[in-house]
Formats: sequence, structure tokens, C-alpha cells
Amino acid sequence: MNVCIIGVGYVGLVTGACFADLGHRVICVDNDRKKIESLKKFKIPFYEKGLNEVVRRNVNSGRLSFASAIKEGVKDSLVIFICVGTPPRPNGEADLSYVENVAMEIARNLTSYHLVVEKSTVPVETGKWVEHTIKTNIRKHVKFDVASNPEFLREGTAIHDFLYPDRIVIGVETKRAEETLRELYKKVKAEIVVTDIKSAELIKHASNSFLAAKISFINSVANICERTGADITKVAHGMGLDPRIGRSFLQSGIGYGGSCFPKDVDAFMHISGKLGYDFALLKAVRKANEEQRVLFVKKIEESLWIVKGKTIGILGLSFKPETDDMRQAPSIDIINSLMNAGAKIKAYDPKAMPKARPILKGVKFCKDAYEAARQSDCLAIVTEWHEFKVMDLKRVKKLMKNPLIVDGRNVFDPKEMKRLGFRYISMGR
Ligand code: UGA
Repeated sequence: MNVCIIGVGYVGLVTGACFADLGHRVICVDNDRKKIESLKKFKIPFYEKGLNEVVRRNVNSGRLSFASAIKEGVKDSLVIFICVGTPPRPNGEADLSYVENVAMEIARNLTSYHLVVEKSTVPVETGKWVEHTIKTNIRKHVKFDVASNPEFLREGTAIHDFLYPDRIVIGVETKRAEETLRELYKKVKAEIVVTDIKSAELIKHASNSFLAAKISFINSVANICERTGADITKVAHGMGLDPRIGRSFLQSGIGYGGSCFPKDVDAFMHISGKLGYDFALLKAVRKANEEQRVLFVKKIEESLWIVKGKTIGILGLSFKPETDDMRQAPSIDIINSLMNAGAKIKAYDPKAMPKARPILKGVKFCKDAYEAARQSDCLAIVTEWHEFKVMDLKRVKKLMKNPLIVDGRNVFDPKEMKRLGFRYISMGR
């Protein structure tokens, strides 16, 4: 099948490369010419495990190509995916102007039947507006369908998530659209959930918001654990074994970050308000999440007594492991608060330092975790990269000025840390 992907960001590039890997012919379009030129030279603008090889393999086989004009992409494609960004406006509302522009441009280039699919995360009823926009801008009298096919892939495991999803959601209004999408995903073994477009749009916002709520809930319980001497990891384990609750997303810590949860919770709250419903629960989810970062900084401050002039080693900068993504990373707020209090910051992250450098001015970046530990008064774990879990802790202790670790991700066993001679403070235990 001939597929066009518009918007070669995270979702667009992974989707395009994976569709090509399934045997489709894919053209990825982006109006950022520089990005397209780099991609033609196999330069991927972000780190995602395995993506480089998938892109290379499919470009070399002729199934994956790149272009900067929508016209070129639309020409021979039956299915067109809209994967452009939907960034937040200052009031939390999703900015859909890129989606609108792309819909207009697609409309101007339609000369035969096409299926236009929204893959970007969008508020409910966007599909209706995309259809309206195409109808009002179309030049020739040709048929088209609009569909919604939200993406559930996680950064760091995106390729695996694409090829082995829990479910594929398709929101369609015609049989033709449904059959086309079924054919496209024929080789992926997963249940296909077929709904109307609005329900599909809502599945995406509701899923991300629910997961965010799960994290805020467990972090709130962690705060009760701290006040009573209970252990959140044990509480989460005991809760998670109930299949109605489930074990995943009960890891307490400094809260969620990234380009999805914070933005989607806000956008869902905003569209709910616009529809006349005050989604108060989500306001609490957001507030609890913001408070976790503040709490983490407070733990560092209280364990150091005087922060001014002290050296703090930060381990992990990306919003989660296995990615170099710094968008809405808790590390940014945490480091800024500590620097404002007069701390000197040394930091190390296995992948995110090139992206962190321009954002975190005044931070000394280190070549590894041991350099971050050297002569530090405190080591703060912000992202739970595997290499931190297997650090030589005896060496770390010797290197530090003061053996204090404040762990925002509950990476270590408190008893073991005590035995090793650390003052060890973690979250909810
Ligand atoms: C999330 C969803 O998991 C994907 O299904 C979805 O497709 C994606 O957003 C999106 O909308 O594009 P992602 O943002 O890559 O994926 O990352 P997650 O693995 O979900 O983690 C999000 C945040 O929650 C991270 O900051 C992580 O540290 C935090 N988290 C996660 C916790 O604090 N505790 C947990 O138990 C799990």
C-alpha cells in the first residue's frame, strides 16, 4: 500500500519507518527542509533504540523516502497520516493550527480517493474539523474519508510498541476506511478496535490521562507512606496484583514528564471545559504531579541543611530512561530550583546531555556517574537509567564528599544503602 506520513517528528518517523518495514511504500513529508535533508543522510533528529537501523534498511530497499512538499507525498498515496505537532497553548489548549494547515494543503492536492488519518494526539471533534477543512478547500470533486488512528507507542520502546501493540484503535465513518486500515495493519497481530472517530479520539486522551492519574495516585499514597513509615513499593506491589488495578504505572517517584502526559492532561481538561464539563479530577492529577518535584527538591534541601555553595550531582536528565527527550523533563525544574538556592550542579545522563546543554545553563556536564559523584555533597537520582542501578556504590561512596543519595526513582534498597554507609533518602518509604 502507498502511504504518506505528514510530519516527521517522533510519531511520524517511527510510524513511517515501521509501516515500510511491514512492506508498504512510505513517503515521509515535512516542511522542515533541513530535517528532510538530514534524514536522507540517515541522521535521525532524536535517539530511539533501533530506529536508525529500521530507517536505513527501508531507505536502502526503496520502501521509505523523504520529501518536503505535501504535493509530492499525496500524489501516489492512498492513505495519508497527519502526524504534525499539537503543542500546548499557554492556557493548556492544544494548538491545532498545524493540523488545519496540513488539512488545507492535502485538500488542494487531492485528485482521487484518499483516506486521511489523524495520528497526532488531538482533542475530540478534531476529525469533524479536518473533514470540514478538506471539504471547503478541495479543488476537484473527489471522494475522501477521514479516520482517527491514535498512537500508543512509548518513547524508548517505540518500535516494539508499533509492531506488537496491545490494540489498534481505528475511528472510522465508512466501510471503505475501515477496510483500508485493516489491510494496512494486516501483518500486525493485535485486536483492532473499531469505533466512530470521536470515540477513537477520546480513547487516546482518556488513556494518557488515566495513566497520569495512576501515577499521581500512587505518588499521593507514597506521601502517606512517608508519614507513617510504610513502604510504597510494597503497597504498590500488593495493590498491583489485583488484576482490576494492574501492576504497571504504580512506580512512585518525582512524577511524570515528557511530551505527552503533561500536555494531554491539560488538553483533555481544556476540551472538557469547552464542552461544559469541569474535569476536576484531572486538575488534582496535575497538581499532585507538580508537587512531587517540589517535594523532591525539599528532601534535598532538608538533608543538606544549607544548599548555598554545596555541590549536587544529578544522575539522569531525560524525562525517563532510554530516550534523550528533555521535553517537560522533571530534571529542568529540579535543577533550576537547586541553582536558585545557590547549589553548584554537576550532571550526567547517558543520552540526553547534547539536548540538555542549551537548556541547562550553568550546569557542569560529566562524562559518567562517577565524575558526577566526585566531591559532591549529595547525589540526586532523577532518571532511573539501568547504568545507575548497576553502579559500583563503594566507589561512589569513596568519591563523594558526603555520602548522601536522594533517590527520586526508588532505584536502591534502603537497607542495603544503609549497610553500605550511605545516608539514603527515597520516595514514599
Ligand atoms: C506515553 C504513553 O505511555 C504512550 O502509550 C503514549 O503513546 C505516549 O505517551 C504518547 O501519547 O505519545 P511516554 O510519554 O513515552 O508514553 O512515556 P511513559 O513510559 O508512559 O512515561 C511517562 C512518564 O511517566 C515518565 O516521566 C515516567 O517516568 C513516568 N512514570 C511512568 C512514572 O512516574 N511512574 C510509572 O509507574 C510509570
